[in-house]
Order: sequence, then structure tokens, then C-alpha cells
Amino acid sequence: MASNPPGENPFTPGSGRMPPHLAGREHEQAVISDFTGELSRSKAPQAIIMVGPRGCGKTVLSNWCREAAPGIDSKIRVKKFKGKLPNEEALIARELLDQLFDLRRPDEVTTRLGVGGFVGGETRYDLKPTGQMIINALIAECRRSPLLLIVDEAAENSRESLGELFNLHQDVNAETGNLLLVLAGTPNVVQVLRSAGATFMNRNKVLNIGLLDENESREAITVPLAETGMAIDKAALDQVIAESHGYPHFLQLWGRALFNESARKNRQKILLEDVHGVAGEVANDKNIIYSDRYAEWSGQDIKILAEVLSRTRERRQSGQLAKANLAEAVALTLEEIEGTSSRAEAFTEKILATACLWQPWGQDRLVSGLPSFIDYILQMSDSI
Ligand SMILES: Nc1ncnc2c1ncn2[C@@H]1O[C@H](COP(=O)(O)OP(=O)(O)O)[C@@H](O)[C@H]1O
Ligand SMILES: [Mg+2]
Repeated sequence: MASNPPGENPFTPGSGRMPPHLAGREHEQAVISDFTGELSRSKAPQAIIMVGPRGCGKTVLSNWCREAAPGIDSKIRVKKFKGKLPNEEALIARELLDQLFDLRRPDEVTTRLGVGGFVGGETRYDLKPTGQMIINALIAECRRSPLLLIVDEAAENSRESLGELFNLHQDVNAETGNLLLVLAGTPNVVQVLRSAGATFMNRNKVLNIGLLDENESREAITVPLAETGMAIDKAALDQVIAESHGYPHFLQLWGRALFNESARKNRQKILLEDVHGVAGEVANDKNIIYSDRYAEWSGQDIKILAEVLSRTRERRQSGQLAKANLAEAVALTLEEIEGTSSRAEAFTEKILATACLWQPWGQDRLVSGLPSFIDYILQMSDSI
């Protein structure tokens, strides 16, 4: 078939890069749109908390949410924080006032609040605003226009900082109904938030951002290809889906490599031989990710982790692994290897915090964050 020259490669492997087709997140997008609609109507929306392992698309969704907001209501102002927040409610408010509402100097807050005074005929704004004044200033700004506040990589914060953020959320919404808070973080953000209050998670909307299912994975590959006039043969697609395990980042890696391969060959249909042709290149990229995660564990701990993963294999594979089973396997393994299980709780928490295994919100079983990483650990530990 005569072919048009291929266009630009649409695939986007890499942290936070918007994929050409945001596969399988229709429900999440609908929730975000609904809540943004509530924000626009000053309805004091609940906070949205997106949790999931690295590489599953939390940042991409939080960026989508930022981009979608103006289409719902052009008055909405958006601010995105990444990582650590100031650790006091008034300091968070202060930063929002500075960056979002263009109140650049501290005395401008004082001015707006009308707490400046006349001294000798001159206006002086040297009164330092109190925390409450700053919070009130933010409330006044939010009354004028709704605010969408996004915090990505929220798990980097302490319970105290997140507590302060939620106090601000409550204070602003009680007065105005005009603040939507969207948090995204690795699964340990749930742990941190839960410790802030037992009913906390029930009062907000939690969205699990995990692996894509098989059909969603197929779409992540076929939709962008179709948009560039390309296609993929069934055997080739089956192979890519089997190798990606629904992990969004890997789907992008495969998509990019295969697109380049067929562009090189000047073909518009990707075949199984192309999948074999780029397998080495994709494996290299995957290995970078694995070794990065592997490095989070010491040599001794990798051995313990591998043993725990073997011990729990059956339950893992049948989807029957509960947190209690994991904790038990960790305790037994530590007992065997170190003669004491005193590290059991911390070790179990680390497995969950790194999302080697994680518990999606509202479910009582653990699932793997990146299934092929588990194979990688087992392989590596065989060779040490
Ligand atoms: N729904 C999706 N469909 C296809 N690819 C996706 C999807 N979500 C994320 N990706 C891709 O996965 C990779 C990781 O996304 P990112 O948002 O950085 O994940 P996280 O913030 O959870 O670590 C990026 O390359 C992105 O393009
Ligand atoms: Mg991210």
C-alpha cells in the first residue's frame, strides 16, 4: 500500500506527560467534571483524592482536571502545588494569595483588609496581618471567584500539613462553597490522611488510579495509531498487551517504539515482527524503571521481600491476598532470616508505601502496583 509519510510520534512515555489517548479514565473524568460543576455553583464540593502507584496516571489526570476547569466555568482560578506544602493553614493561604491573586507584598493583604492606619497624614501598612486575617483575605478572594486547588505528590506531606490543608478547605467552603481540593498521591497518602481522623476518608471522594484493564490497554495503543493513519495487527497488539500488564507508562513505551519502527520501515501496519524488533529497546527502558525501584531496597531487604513475594504467590495470583496475610508472611520471613519479627510492621508498610503491593481504596485485597516488577525482584534475588 502506498503510504503517506508518518506524522509525529504521538506516544508520550514519561512522568506527567499527557497521553495521546487518556484510556480508561472516563469514570474519573466524569467525577472530576461533576465536582467542578459543583464548584462553579458554589456547592462546597468534597475533596477528590486520587491514589495509585507511580506511573499509573495521577499527574496526567490532575493536569487534565486543570485544563478541563475553564471549559466548565471560565471564572474558576486554578493553582497546582507539587510536593511539600507550607505546614500552617495561614501559610498555605498566604502562598495562594501571593501566587494566584497577585497580592505580592505582605502589606497588600493589610491594605485589602483595611487594617492599615494613618500615621502623621501618611497611609501606613506596617501592621503585620495575623494568620486569621490572611485566611479571611483568601476567603474574600474565593467569594469573588471559585478556586480549584490541586496538590500533586501529596504523599510527600506530613499528617500535620495535610491536616492544615483540609482545615483551609473547610474554612473556605463553610463561608463560600467555592473551593475544590484535588489531591493526588501514592497509596501511602491514604495512610497519612487516615491518621488525621477516622472518618476522614469517608467524607471525601477517593479515586483509585491503578492498572488499565485489557480493553482500556488496547485503546491506549490503537486510538492514537488510528489518529495518525496507522494500524496494528492482532497478534502484535496481543503481545504488547500481554507484556504491558495494563501499566500505562509501559503502554506508552511500546507505542513509541513501535511507531518509530514502522515509520523506519515506511509501513502503516505494525506486525508481530516489529514487536520482536523493538523488544530489546523497550526492555532497556523498562529496566531503568525496575532498577530505580529496586534501589529503594537494601540487599538484605530485597532478599526478605523476594521471600515474602514467593510465600504469598498463590494468594497474590488468585487475588486473595489481604493485608493481614502479607503482614503474617513478612513476620514469618523476618523471624527466619533475622531471628526476630520486630521490623515486621515497618517492612509491611514499606511494601505498601512503595506500592509494590497496594490496597485500592474500598477493597480488602492487595494488588500489585507493577506486576512485572515482582518478577524482576524474584529474578534478581535468585542471582544474588
Ligand atoms: N489513562 C492513560 N492512558 C494511557 N497512558 C497513560 C494514561 N495515564 C497515564 N498514562 C501515561 O503513563 C505515564 C505515567 O503517567 P503519570 O501521570 O506521570 O503517572 P503518575 O503521576 O501516577 O506517576 C505517562 O507516560 C502517561 O502518558
Ligand atoms: Mg505523578
